[in-house]
Amino acid sequence: MSTSENPIGIFDSGIGGLTVLKEVSRMLPHERIVYLGDTARVPYGIRSPETVTRYSFECTGFLMRQNIKLLVVACNTVSAISLRQIQESVSIPVIGVIEPGARAAVSSTKSGKIGIIGTEATIRSSAYVRAIKALDKDIEVFGLPCPLFVPLVEEGWTDGVIARLVAEKYLKDIADKGADTLVLGCTHYPLLKNVIQDVLSAVCLIDSAVETAKVVREMLAGTGMPVNAGSHRAGKFYVTDSPEKFVAVGERFLERPIEDIEKIELS
Ligand code: DGL
Repeated sequence: MSTSENPIGIFDSGIGGLTVLKEVSRMLPHERIVYLGDTARVPYGIRSPETVTRYSFECTGFLMRQNIKLLVVACNTVSAISLRQIQESVSIPVIGVIEPGARAAVSSTKSGKIGIIGTEATIRSSAYVRAIKALDKDIEVFGLPCPLFVPLVEEGWTDGVIARLVAEKYLKDIADKGADTLVLGCTHYPLLKNVIQDVLSAVCLIDSAVETAKVVREMLAGTGMPVNAGSHRAGKFYVTDSPEKFVAVGERFLERPIEDIEKIELS
């Protein structure tokens, strides 16, 4: 049975879900978080829906065995492809990243034109288009896959000339099409926010991580399961490949040590 003392589970295909973890721990500092990054099999965004679904069920099963009280599917690709199936398969609340980002984008746009950047699988699924059109059918949505952003982040190259050149090449069309709002529809992209904002200075960037953390806070309050007092909880990290690179890039991004980390096998 879930109690308020149980941890929140967050999973992603790799390191990018730390963007969600950072926001959740900022907004809910007393919650303990168990994070799983499937670093041995990243990227998910180039794989078939069947494979993404299978991987996501393995991640879900692992976190369920850690007695989590709420699951955050931090990966946009999984949220786009198998969120509903995951929700139907477990008895705890499951939150994805697409709806929160779509809602924030619809509130932000004045021109009625929204750009979405994400992995090939996320853009191909049209999940953001459906979520946005369900809120306002007149909004025009432009989806653009930016696959090179993921390895740049995994490598820790989140600023500098290479990141900027890649961002310029991908994003030129978004501004030309008149979008005034851009959803960073991939967990990894908020780590490139400064570079993306430099290239698209007049465009409002929607960070799904922030929006998702707000939903986590609301949902825990609604279920009466938030931990309201106590010290800051350090949390536990699991990865499926060797932890060194995850720790190096993750510590730089989280601005705190990642101490309790373990390599596991998922199957
Ligand atoms: N975490 C994935 C997402 O948000 C990006 C990386 C990948 O392709 O696995 O879509």
